[in-house]
Amino acid sequence: MSAIETKSLTKVFKKDFSKKKIIALKSLSLKIEEGEVFGFLGPNGAGKSTTIKILLNLIRPTSGTVTIMGKNPSDKNVRKLVGYLPENPYFYDHLSAKELLWFGGKSCNMAAPAIRERTLQLLEELELIDAMKRPLRSYSKGMVQRAGLALALIHDPQILILDEPMSGLDPMGRIKVFNLILKLKEEGKTIFFSSHILHDIERLCDRAAILINGDLIRLIDVKNDLHQGETLESIFMDEVKRSGGLRE
Ligand SMILES: Nc1ncnc2c1ncn2[C@@H]1O[C@H](COP(=O)(O)OP(=O)(O)OP(=O)(O)O)[C@@H](O)[C@H]1O
Ligand SMILES: [Mg+2]
Repeated sequence: MSAIETKSLTKVFKKDFSKKKIIALKSLSLKIEEGEVFGFLGPNGAGKSTTIKILLNLIRPTSGTVTIMGKNPSDKNVRKLVGYLPENPYFYDHLSAKELLWFGGKSCNMAAPAIRERTLQLLEELELIDAMKRPLRSYSKGMVQRAGLALALIHDPQILILDEPMSGLDPMGRIKVFNLILKLKEEGKTIFFSSHILHDIERLCDRAAILINGDLIRLIDVKNDLHQGETLESIFMDEVKRSGGLRE
């Protein structure tokens, strides 16, 4: 059984006040195996976040299907299996990071001592311990991003779906998150993440997909498909040029 599977996933958005349609995703079929780290690449507007929101059942596909560990994403048991970091994490900003993780743990039915222990461990790892009792509204962008990651990880899920986990982080924060993803990979977690930082994807991922204008252009086995002198970045640039650029 694949950890994540999409079959012919298509999403069409209608533009407000006009009949114009945006085809955000065109018949995307992907299989992500258990324990795999999978990078989802594509220029702005390629359809990455749309795919991720469908995986999380936040939006419905126009057609096609998704399964997470063989289950429909609307299945309430899927919530416990998956940790999700949204593209622009937004939380009730009067909460502190500690309170945020408490609610996150409670919503996954974790026991109180386990939530407390895991909260301290994650906030230590993500360098938020000193700020953990402060309201999130006093956090910088990078701090909110790290709090969002801690929330995704509170229940120690076996699958992580992260929409641009490095976004907004300073170089030190990026290294921290890079190492955290590496550690999760060593623990055997399945990690599906989008990123524009191709160098990080190349070092972290087993496979990567390039999505352009909703089309899956290429699947790359990072260890075996890169020839001498080739990087993920050079492949990406070639594919974007070959596709004739982006939608307006
Ligand atoms: N709710 C919506 N209504 C209308 N169009 C939408 C909606 N959400 C996304 N789109 C459109 O779908 C396309 C794909 O958007 P999406 O957010 O999935 O791209 P992305 O690959 O995540 O880009 P980025 O790298 O900028 O985050 C874009 O053209 C976007 O304008
Ligand atoms: Mg996006």
